Amino acid sequence: MCLSGQSFLLSLIFEKNMRIFVPNILFMRMKVLLINGSPKDKGNTFLALSEVAKALNEEGVETEIVSIGKQPVPGCIACGMCGRTGKCTFNDAPYFSILRAVKEGIDGLVVGSPVYYGGPNGSLCALLDRVFYSLSNHLKFLPAASVVVCRRGGASAAFDRLNKYFTITNMPVVSSQYWNMVYGQTPGQASLDEEGMQTMRTLGHNMAWMIRQLNIAADGHPQLEAPLRTNFIR
Ligand SMILES: Cc1cc2nc3c(=O)[nH]c(=O)nc-3n(C[C@H](O)[C@H](O)[C@H](O)COP(=O)(O)O)c2cc1C
Repeated sequence: MCLSGQSFLLSLIFEKNMRIFVPNILFMRMKVLLINGSPKDKGNTFLALSEVAKALNEEGVETEIVSIGKQPVPGCIACGMCGRTGKCTFNDAPYFSILRAVKEGIDGLVVGSPVYYGGPNGSLCALLDRVFYSLSNHLKFLPAASVVVCRRGGASAAFDRLNKYFTITNMPVVSSQYWNMVYGQTPGQASLDEEGMQTMRTLGHNMAWMIRQLNIAADGHPQLEAPLRTNFIR
């Protein structure tokens, strides 16, 4: 059965043989963090993410967009410090904003990237390596999605690369009606890609639906086995 909006809420209230049952989800604040990997604060990636955010907001889900900005972003130096302190040794603004949002509590994550040379842009990957290496325990089981924007080619390779962060972190990947890609070159052009923008809206609605389903699931999430790391060497 596919329910949305008001009918979804009413069905929850009146289920259980018409006895009034008000689920916690009605009072729960739900929030999705969106990371804009473009150095352009208001470029095409921001436009695509804003369309996802608008759909989430329509469903009662709060959103916050963190932009990576124009400053150089350090990459992971494999120092292992995060394993001891629970946070990256570098304290740059984008990492700190994400750390704060994650610690305050988020219910979903969307990562947006412009396509650079057929992949996600370098600064974003530098940041995400550190975010996922240091915060994977806080991110696991959160629904996640990536969104990519390109002028002409490389979108699906960039999309696949970003999704790898989620699929190694026990994060359910939210899908849409098409792969999450939007076309545009100069800032603003993305809004002319009608199918791309519709794909963004569908993604937002699908993510809100998945967050609600996971929040009302009685059995919580699976118990994970202790990780095995064989590194292909016995
Ligand atoms: C260094 C660089 C590399 C790029 N590489 C590609 C590419 O491989 N394929 C493509 O279609 N567009 C490429 N583009 C274009 C951007 O992906 C496109 O302009 C996008 O809309 C920028 O998004 P933004 O406004 O959010 O920064 C590249 C742009 C730059 C600056």
